[in-house]
Amino acid sequence: MNRRQFMASTAAAALFPMPSLGGQAPLKLRAEPVIRQILPEGEGATAMLGFNGSTPGPELRLKRGVQATVDVENGLEEGTAVHWHGIRLENKMDGVPVLTQSLINPGDKMTYSFVPPDAGTYWYHSHYISQEQVARGMMGPLIVEDDTPPDVDHDISVLLSDWRMEESGALVDEYQDMHSVAHGGYLGNFARAFLSKGQVQKGDRVRFRVINGATNRIFPLAVGGVEGKIVALDGMALAAPRSLDEIVLAPAQRADLIVDITGPVSFDMLSRQGAYRLADVTVEGANTERQPAPIPTLAAPDLPAPQEPTQHLTLTMMGGAMGGRHGGANIWAFNNISDLDDEPFGTFARGETVRITMVNDTAFPHGIHLHGHHFYEVADDGSLGDLRDTTLVATGESRDVICVFDNPGNWLLHCHMLSHAIGGMRTWVTVA
Ligand code: C2O
Ligand code: CU
Repeated sequence: MNRRQFMASTAAAALFPMPSLGGQAPLKLRAEPVIRQILPEGEGATAMLGFNGSTPGPELRLKRGVQATVDVENGLEEGTAVHWHGIRLENKMDGVPVLTQSLINPGDKMTYSFVPPDAGTYWYHSHYISQEQVARGMMGPLIVEDDTPPDVDHDISVLLSDWRMEESGALVDEYQDMHSVAHGGYLGNFARAFLSKGQVQKGDRVRFRVINGATNRIFPLAVGGVEGKIVALDGMALAAPRSLDEIVLAPAQRADLIVDITGPVSFDMLSRQGAYRLADVTVEGANTERQPAPIPTLAAPDLPAPQEPTQHLTLTMMGGAMGGRHGGANIWAFNNISDLDDEPFGTFARGETVRITMVNDTAFPHGIHLHGHHFYEVADDGSLGDLRDTTLVATGESRDVICVFDNPGNWLLHCHMLSHAIGGMRTWVTVA
C-alpha cells in the first residue's frame, strides 16, 4: 500500500466460496491454469494457476491421526511440487524439490501420503518457483479437524492474498524483479480474502480460520461485526484465548478466531492510509437458539516437551536494500551464506532441544518458517510463548525460539517472504 496506489475493492464482490474436498478417501488435486474473477464483478477476469479449476484450490479437510492420501497431477506446462505448510509430516512428503523429492513434471503425478498429527488450520501451496507459482494462485486451505470440534454454527476459512494487476485484470509478470526482491518483495496492488462461506446469522458463533497466503505482504487485520477471541496461531491452540485487537499475519501465518456475530462482518487490512476492505460476510436472520457462553479454549496439541537446550545457534538475517555487506552470493543471506549450502545450518540428534536466536540485521521484516516442526517463541520474560511454524521478526529486532527437533530428515528454514527466499534467504537443518 505504501509505494503503489491500491486498486479499489468493492467488498460486496469479495465473496468467493471455495469448493471443499473432505474425507479420507484419496483426494485429488490437479494443478492447472485457471481463469478467476479476482477484480470486482464487471471488471476483467485474471488468468492464473490453481487446482481443480479454481484458485484458491479446494479446501482439504483431513482427520487428525488418520492417514491422508492426496494425488497431485501436474496439468501445468512447467514442473511443480506441493508443500503441506505447517504439518509435522514425514520428510519425504514435505514437497520440497531437490531436498525431499524430484519435481513433478508436466503430465506426471505424485501421491502424497501422511498422517497429520495435530488438529488445526494449515494450507498447501506450490514449493517450486514458489515466488511465482504461489503469486499466480497455487494455494489452498488445509484443515485438520479437531477430535472434538468446538461448539460453533459455522467453520469458515478466510484465505488472504494480494496480486500485482493491470487495469485489465491481467497479472503483471514481475515476480522476480530485483528491486522488489531487495525490498519488501513482490507486493500486490489489489488484495482480498476468499471465504469458504459468505453468509451467517446474527447471534451465530463462528470459527474463522484466517490464512495469509500472500507471497510477501504482512496483513494487519481488523474484523468488524464480531465479538470474540483468537484461539489458535499457526494451527496450534493458545493456552488461553486472546484479544482480537491485534491480528498481524506474516506470509504463511494463520490465526483461528471464535467469535459471536453482532452485525455485518467485515475483514479489513489496516494501513496508514486507512482500512482496505478484503471481504464481507452477509448477515441475514437471527440465531435465537444460541446461548451466551465464554469463548472456548481449544484442545492443547500433543508436542514433545522441550528439555534444557543442548545447542544454542544464531541465525542472522543479512542483506537487501539498505542492508550491510555480507558474504553470500545472492541479495539476502543467513549468517553470510545465500541459498542452500552443502552444509546445513544445524545438525541435530533426533529429539534434541535447541535454542535459536534469530537476529534481523536488515532494513525489512522477515517471517521465518521452519519445515516439519513447530517451535516456541520465547516470551520477553524468558518463558515459553506461542507455538508457531513461522515467526515474524521486525527490523533491527531479534527473537529466540526453542524447538524440539524430533522429526528426522532434511528440513528447510527460510524466509516466507517468497521474494526474499528466492533472493537467498534460505537454509536447511538436518535431524538424524
Ligand atoms: Cu509455506 Cu517452505 O513453505
Ligand atoms: Cu524476508
